[in-house]
Amino acid sequence: MWNDTAVTRMLSVRYPIIQAPMAGGPTTPELVAAVSNEGGLGFLGAGYMSPDSIRAAIRRIRQLTDQTFGVNLFIPDQNIQVEREVVKAMIHHLKSLEALPEEVGREIDSIPMENAPGDTFAQQLEVILDEQIPVFSFTFGCPTQEQIKELKSRGIRVIGTATSVVEAVYLQEAGVDAVVAQGCEAGGHRGTFLGAHPSSLIGTITLVPQIVDRVRIPVIASGGIMDGRGIAACLTLGASAVQMGTAFLASRESGAHPAYKKALLHSRDTETVITDSFSGKPARGLRNTFISWMEQYDGPIPPYPIQNALTRPIRNWAARQADPEFISLWAGQGSAQSRDASARDIVRQLIQEVERAIGKPADRDTLFYI
Ligand SMILES: Cc1cc2nc3c(=O)[nH]c(=O)nc-3n(C[C@H](O)[C@H](O)[C@H](O)COP(=O)(O)O)c2cc1C
Repeated sequence: MWNDTAVTRMLSVRYPIIQAPMAGGPTTPELVAAVSNEGGLGFLGAGYMSPDSIRAAIRRIRQLTDQTFGVNLFIPDQNIQVEREVVKAMIHHLKSLEALPEEVGREIDSIPMENAPGDTFAQQLEVILDEQIPVFSFTFGCPTQEQIKELKSRGIRVIGTATSVVEAVYLQEAGVDAVVAQGCEAGGHRGTFLGAHPSSLIGTITLVPQIVDRVRIPVIASGGIMDGRGIAACLTLGASAVQMGTAFLASRESGAHPAYKKALLHSRDTETVITDSFSGKPARGLRNTFISWMEQYDGPIPPYPIQNALTRPIRNWAARQADPEFISLWAGQGSAQSRDASARDIVRQLIQEVERAIGKPADRDTLFYI
């Protein structure tokens, strides 16, 4: 049966369909629980959340589902260099944005640079360990082997994100249970942590079989998968599950801003670009005025998470007025296939579409293995 895979067995889920963690608000406890309740794996994107809000969200998810779910964090880059002159020039540039109210400019001025958001990773991880969640995943790097051992000793399954074969092998050696192969079609930030970004822009159909051939752990395909045909194709390439982000972004339970959902539902295949203008780290999203305006800036962009902190007041200002031109509209290359539906219906439709694509029903009696 197509839904009996190494990942469904390992994570005790019915279908090899993972709703991608999406930090910044889309992955509400309601979305996570709805996907898990349908037999998929819901994932909370907790990268930007405080330890207390992560704990509260985990408890809310547990109220809404007794099925497996996951929580995802960002691995901070310890080697970030804050170059004062680069930051100063960027602040000056951002404040020159026409129509930007003065108080938003003052907010940008008052951002403390010493206190980078990545500093909280250790405290976030404490909550994950303490709450003994079923599945933990991460992106932008790799935790220490001790941290991975500690997670696994509490019965937590650990999943890393790779954008190349070398990263997948690195994660396997570090001890993860499974690896996400993130193709360049993917919406949101690139997970690349070894080597240069441009050379790690490998399409999902190319990346998945190459990683499958080089690692012993299960591989989860991610990037541009929007329907059952994409899921069937990835399982054929050797993946043991898929991780879909954009497909759930416009769902009813998603916490994405209504203007963001509308932009997704009206988008076309040619509209996404990879940009570091919002956050200082390459990410794929729908082109808008902010991205085009930033392309005219010829100075260096401060690295993540500095640039992300600097543009936050602008994004919040735009969100307050429902203006999609200055919000980060992260989306994969399949955004035009977004569905205006509940997460429950999306999962059900996906299952039917896989069955149609491969001509076989799922094993609905698949036993849960724990
Ligand atoms: C809005 C958005 C936010 C994302 N945030 C995260 C995140 O917090 N952690 C993570 O590991 N991946 C994140 N991703 C990447 C997804 O895990 C996944 O690789 C991607 O959504 C797959 O491509 P797709 O959007 O075409 O399905 C994000 C993607 C999007 C679209």
